[in-house]
Amino acid sequence: MKRIKRIGILTAGGDCPGLNAAIRGVGKAALGRGIEVVGIRDGFLGLIDNHTLPLDRHSLAGILTVGGTVLGTSRVKPHRIERRGRIRDLRNVVIANCQKNGLDAVVCLGGDGTQKNALRLSEKGLQVITLPKTIDNDVVLTDTSFGFDTALGIATEALDRLHSTAHSHHRIIVVELMGHRVGWLTLAAGLAGGADVILIPEIPYSVEQIAKAIRRRSQMGTNFSIVAIAEGALSREYAARFRKAKLRKSRARSEAALQRVSAELADLDQHHTGNTLRLSRELEQRTGLECRVSILGYVQRGGTPSAADRLLATRLGTACAELIQDRVFGVMVAARGDGAQPVPLDRVAGHRKEVPLDHPWIAAARAVGTSFGD
Ligand code: F6P
Repeated sequence: MKRIKRIGILTAGGDCPGLNAAIRGVGKAALGRGIEVVGIRDGFLGLIDNHTLPLDRHSLAGILTVGGTVLGTSRVKPHRIERRGRIRDLRNVVIANCQKNGLDAVVCLGGDGTQKNALRLSEKGLQVITLPKTIDNDVVLTDTSFGFDTALGIATEALDRLHSTAHSHHRIIVVELMGHRVGWLTLAAGLAGGADVILIPEIPYSVEQIAKAIRRRSQMGTNFSIVAIAEGALSREYAARFRKAKLRKSRARSEAALQRVSAELADLDQHHTGNTLRLSRELEQRTGLECRVSILGYVQRGGTPSAADRLLATRLGTACAELIQDRVFGVMVAARGDGAQPVPLDRVAGHRKEVPLDHPWIAAARAVGTSFGD
């Protein structure tokens, strides 16, 4: 069997803490096995534009603790990229550039979108292997993904800090956390930071139920509340409208029907932007308490990775190098207990790990009196 001599590494999708630790883990372990390592710039874009850099012991040193990704990233999908006003499938260009660079395999570090892109390239014959990264924790079939623990620490610290100011001013503070489709980060930080209300995409909320929970606290003599809301959380009304529109989209028979329902979904998305501000105004009216908003945004994704993320990224990265030497491709290296396990990409791509409604974290939050606005 042909020995693997040279591999490429890329990071794609949103950046997160732990990417550099993973690049270092894969890179150093591969070099230790006699495999050359090439860095690919800006995700899949680097494979299209043939933009690479050599990675050696020197360039891989000193990056373990650094946030972001030294390789750069992008959300480019090789099978669907806009070039000169046209949507093109550039997977053949990617394969040709890999051959040009003598790459026997490509390691893709990314979230759910990256898993899909990697699978599409592997279907074209490229030898790929992936690692799960995301602050959202929504990649399936892995215990967790690097980036999540660091974001959780940052968000929890923010909630702690917001508590003291909410308490001093007798205010409601609505804190928006990242998580467009899933509520893992908001749930975990809300639980760890003692939020009074936690709103996640998996549990559509009623504004009146949230107001009721806050009024109940006031009646008991507590005139402040912390509401942790995931950016993708929706009221019951909007969640139902989204659900129906998505169903209509999946059933659309004609191009005109598809366009109509896509426009409707875009409108709904538009409404979604500013949702947190609207919720804050409504809570002010319904509770009579002053309300402020804090949007944590990209702070959650920046900076140095936590010790747990460095461990996870190094563990998965080094396991990945071993799998490469054994020529195991078309898989994601998943975290399983203290170890790592390859999972076929077609079982990962296109799936999303949502918070199950019977998850112990939800039960624990309810048990300490947290409202989910339901
Ligand atoms: O996928 C991670 C994530 O941080 C989401 O939580 C968030 O909605 C999104 O990325 C924001 O991405 P962008 O970098 O494209 O603004």
